[in-house]
Amino acid sequence: MLAIPFKFIVAHFLIGSCISCSLRSSAKSGDDPNIPAIAKYFSTKGRYEEVNPYLIDDIVAVNRSILPTPSPQCREIHLTAIIRHGTRYPTTKNVKKMRLLHDLVSRNASGKQGWLREIKHQWTMWYTEDMDGRLVQKGIDDHKHLAVRLAKLFPSLISKEKLRDGHMNFITSSKHRCVNSTLAFQSGLAGLWTIEGDEFDHNLNDALMRFFDVCTKFVEHVENNASALQEVDKFEVGAEMRRVQEKIADRLGVHYSLITNDMAQAAFYLCAYEFAIKTVNSPWCQLFDEVDAQVMEYANDLKHFWKRGYGHDINSKSSCILFHDVFSRLNNAASQSKSGPVQEAVTIQVGHAETLLPLLTLLGFFKDSDPLTSTNYASQAQRSFRTSRILPYAANLLLVLYDCGEDGLRLQPLLNERPLAFPGMAGQQDSMPLYQDVREHYKELLDGCDFETECQLF
Ligand SMILES: *[C@@H]1O[C@H](CO)[C@@H](O)[C@H](O)[C@H]1NC(C)=O
Ligand SMILES: *[C@@H]1O[C@H](CO)[C@@H](O)[C@H](O)[C@H]1NC(C)=O
Ligand SMILES: *[C@@H]1O[C@H](CO)[C@@H](O)[C@H](O)[C@H]1NC(C)=O
Ligand SMILES: *[C@@H]1O[C@H](CO)[C@@H](O)[C@H](O)[C@H]1NC(C)=O
Repeated sequence: MLAIPFKFIVAHFLIGSCISCSLRSSAKSGDDPNIPAIAKYFSTKGRYEEVNPYLIDDIVAVNRSILPTPSPQCREIHLTAIIRHGTRYPTTKNVKKMRLLHDLVSRNASGKQGWLREIKHQWTMWYTEDMDGRLVQKGIDDHKHLAVRLAKLFPSLISKEKLRDGHMNFITSSKHRCVNSTLAFQSGLAGLWTIEGDEFDHNLNDALMRFFDVCTKFVEHVENNASALQEVDKFEVGAEMRRVQEKIADRLGVHYSLITNDMAQAAFYLCAYEFAIKTVNSPWCQLFDEVDAQVMEYANDLKHFWKRGYGHDINSKSSCILFHDVFSRLNNAASQSKSGPVQEAVTIQVGHAETLLPLLTLLGFFKDSDPLTSTNYASQAQRSFRTSRILPYAANLLLVLYDCGEDGLRLQPLLNERPLAFPGMAGQQDSMPLYQDVREHYKELLDGCDFETECQLF
């Protein structure tokens, strides 16, 4: 029973023995009245703690035994972390939708349930359009605590000495929520090491962390192309979504025609944001049961699949620039380790869900045998492409390079502090793969995947 939330990973990826280790509290969180029953379906609006429930009890807990145990002669020589910003306010667009729903419920809902009275008479619409996606206090905490956990997991790399000697590099998207996440990450380390925050530096780099803005082919073919997301549009008017909307209307006691797809989305956002930002199980969550939430989650997964994932080839190719950047850091570390200390021991890169997903896709992670479409909701129940698990706030992809002496250089990927196996590198699941085998596996991308070429229109 405990393994259910992670079935998709186990089914699809070869993960070490760590999978069953941290599930202790997932049953418990289901019983906690402060946690919405639907919290694990919030897609990219989800809390990191839902992915790693042991953090609910102790937010700086780490379990070093989840790390694969390389031979005793292995030492960590480089860590690249690509991290999504922390919890944030809704965007202006979503605040507008939330306001429309709130108005509708205040004026027209005729239901008599206690939670509905609470929405109408106690809950106030406190979201304003000027909040526009800014990082919230919880988002600052997300990154502070992540920094402390990563320093505990990799003490020989993320250390006061490495920082002092200039071996740690911080790169961020220029968006305020990312810059502030970077500063929060640094302040987490400053607190841990009792040093001043001003000993840290960072560089803005949108070419690397917001490649999707400058990849012309992506912008033309997907971002500005209404038909690129037609599967999403079809699902939104399909039977599953229609049923969710009708159930919301029934619960509110309003005419079916009033609950549009935007209204259903706004209700889901209200539950998700109240929880992510304030950690409350708000009355808005009563508009959904778990079945409804799974449909909402699928609609979100569909969108990410077609906009950032496997749906269109250019989605992943737009991240070629980041892919090559990562491998050139690994290469530098690999060659420097032969003769002495690695110059750039740690690279912390802060960006967006839209930064991480194309790169994960390019690397082949979370690829199901069939594409997600408007008509295969039921058969995708066990899909591995599940953004609630992959991309909560502060989601992070870590690549850890080890020098194992006679056993060669080895590379371990982790997502959200759990070891992963490179897809298609079966047979390697018991030990982390040789760096040269990983390079061989991605040879085609390493030899090609040129950002300029991939992103040009003609
Ligand atoms: C850490 O992980 C190991 C291996 O999965 C597990 O046996 C152990 O119980 C975990 N320890 C804690 C404190 O969670
Ligand atoms: C909703 O309530 C408003 C204000 O009371 C009213 O004018 C409007 O007709 C109602 N709409 C529906 C569809 O009931
Ligand atoms: C970032 O932090 C600064 C300083 O604390 C604050 O003034 C600013 O509003 C924050 N910006 C965002 C987008 O959170
Ligand atoms: C828009 O998307 C559709 C569906 O993927 C595709 O057939 C079409 O070529 C795209 N248009 C442009 C301008 O890329």
